[in-house]
Amino acid sequence: MNTCLLEIKNLKVRIGDKTILHGVNLTIDEGTVHVIFGPNGSGKTTLVGAIMGLPQYEVVDGDIKFKGESILSMPSYERARLGIGLAFQRPPAVKGVNLFHLLKAVKRNEDDILAAAEALNLKDYLHRDMNKGFSGGEIKRSEVLQMKLMRPTLLMLDEPESGVDFENIVLLSDIIKEMLEKKQPIVTRKRSGLIITHTGLIIEQIQADVGHVILDGRILCSGNPHEILEAIRTHGFERCVECLEKQRKR
Ligand SMILES: Nc1ncnc2c1ncn2[C@@H]1O[C@H](COP(=O)(O)OP(=O)(O)OP(=O)(O)O)[C@@H](O)[C@H]1O
Ligand SMILES: [Mg+2]
Repeated sequence: MNTCLLEIKNLKVRIGDKTILHGVNLTIDEGTVHVIFGPNGSGKTTLVGAIMGLPQYEVVDGDIKFKGESILSMPSYERARLGIGLAFQRPPAVKGVNLFHLLKAVKRNEDDILAAAEALNLKDYLHRDMNKGFSGGEIKRSEVLQMKLMRPTLLMLDEPESGVDFENIVLLSDIIKEMLEKKQPIVTRKRSGLIITHTGLIIEQIQADVGHVILDGRILCSGNPHEILEAIRTHGFERCVECLEKQRKR
């Protein structure tokens, strides 16, 4: 049996004076890929930001354990060193820091950087300031390039396919699958994924294991990601809202 990599219990998170997550429970085992669906503003980015320890997300209750240890008191860079990585939904442009210099801080070997950039069609972007003037799809590929070189044990991707053209989605998916050791049998896989998606395109390519619907800062249901996506496509999140109301009345 695969062991637990990430365990989140009753997580409550606030931004300023607004509570966004109202008690999230989530367990991710080694070697598994989880997908999160949810309408705009439901708390998806807040969840991965809180796992990464970004300072704007204040944990007011609950716990986040990674490999059995609470990480709540650790700054983001320590969490990254432990093996948690996040490809941002909307990363900032960083003037004066070119992509190559950033990648050098992650990986010393220049040949590895060049090979990874080549694989993501980003070789010509290495000398440019990070994300400055990058198109939406280029930003997403640049985020995945950083993850490819960091090789996190828990790979979190916040809407990785948003704005990416079809050919590049196939390319991204292949690289993400490789990062998640999808070619290995599940029992020997050590890396796990937490992927936020609206389109579901990426999960069809990656073969996700578990899906979750997050609504109003709570995980409303979990199950087969393909079935959940099909239900959302057919009925929309409105049906999820009805389901939440029924659960509340019980
Ligand atoms: N700095 C902030 N101050 C106040 N509210 C905020 C702040 N940042 C985020 N929020 C609110 O928190 C809620 C959850 O935001 P979050 O980014 O987690 O949503 P999401 O599920 O990722 O949505 P999307 O699908 O649009 O990316 C939203 O209502 C958002 O407006
Ligand atoms: Mg978001």
